Amino acid sequence: TARGMATGAAAKVLPEVPKVGVIGMGLMGHGIIQVAAQAGFDVVGYDAFPGAADKAMERINGSLAKQTGRAVQKGSMSEAEAAASVESTVARISHSGDMDALKGCSLVIEAMPEDIALKRKVWTDLQAATAGTDPILATNTSSLQLADMADSTGCPDRFVGLHFFNPVQLMRLVEVVRTDDTSEAAVDVACRFVEAIGKTPVMCKDTPGFVVNRLLVPYMAQAMAMLDRGEADVAGIDAAMRLGAGYPMGPFTLADYVGLDTCLSILRGWTEKYPGEPAFIVPDVLVRMVEAGHYGRKSGRGFYTWD
Ligand code: CAA
Ligand code: NAD
Repeated sequence: TARGMATGAAAKVLPEVPKVGVIGMGLMGHGIIQVAAQAGFDVVGYDAFPGAADKAMERINGSLAKQTGRAVQKGSMSEAEAAASVESTVARISHSGDMDALKGCSLVIEAMPEDIALKRKVWTDLQAATAGTDPILATNTSSLQLADMADSTGCPDRFVGLHFFNPVQLMRLVEVVRTDDTSEAAVDVACRFVEAIGKTPVMCKDTPGFVVNRLLVPYMAQAMAMLDRGEADVAGIDAAMRLGAGYPMGPFTLADYVGLDTCLSILRGWTEKYPGEPAFIVPDVLVRMVEAGHYGRKSGRGFYTWD
């Protein structure tokens, strides 16, 4: 498909302008950009930090190379088809350090750090940048309440949660979160977008952690508390949950994968907001790791050392 001409699925979901904006081109943002472009949407990435877009494009190219390399190996794609598919996906992606580039998008997905003040500020700034175009706005927040930022968008009826999972390229779920103010039309576009990118939407209420993180984050925190108590070591706990419970990754590998800074900001936010909930704890080891600058896989070191 040539740039600017979306494929059928993309044009069906966003008929007027099949163009998606992504704010924040980090761990999650780059994956969201990639899967949307692969499904035929034009995608504009916006990141405020110099170098973030280049790093995101490097990650996207690496991931596409992995996927197409695998397809060639299996014989489901020729070398030429693989190269053409990478080229057409990358051609649908543009990026900018200027928020005005998001003008004209029909759907804007925010994937910035888990910081309510930052998210509120950017939603407010976006009102001017997208004035008159009325896009659907979606947050990828893991743990914040949509109700605490809906007013900053200026259009709570067009505001939803689209909660992706890491790694975006492989995980098949997207939680679709609605508030009391979200319109049926916005929910409908959100669900159809999720299906168009080949994933399964599950509707969630605006509760802490929605479904997956309400269960998964306390589980990782309990594993860290177990380590703090000296009951078992990192490798032992991970092996136990992989081999004894059938999880694809143990809790420490998973925490490194999610990002220890992200895990900490989720747990800190929850313990402050819901002090009566015993499942929400901030393990000492997690605080120590983050204070030492060990953020997990993305910084090269967490509970494990990563390449
Ligand atoms: N892009 C493209 N391909 C990728 C990739 C990427 N980003 N990452 C891995 N792959 C490829 C691998 O190269 C591999 O390809 P080959 O088969 O050709 O070798 C294939 O995908 C499978 O990867 P692995 O060999 O690593 O296989 P795996 O069976 O271990 O699967 C996994 C990997 C799907 C990540 C699996 O380990 C898993 O499901 N782990 C749990 C992940 C999870 O729970 N995520 C949710 C975190 S919580 C969250 O995201 C929410 C939040 O708000 C914090
Ligand atoms: P990240 O730190 O990897 O990426 C955040 C990106 O936002 C960075 O590239 C940063 O430069 C950019 N950014 C910061 N301030 C900005 C601004 N003012 N304007 C534009 N861009 C800005 O974080 P991440 O892990 O991708 O998480 C992003 C969001 O997704 C968070 O809300 C997080 O809770 C959620 N989430 C994370 C995971 C996970 O496993 N890490 C999974 C699902 C959802």
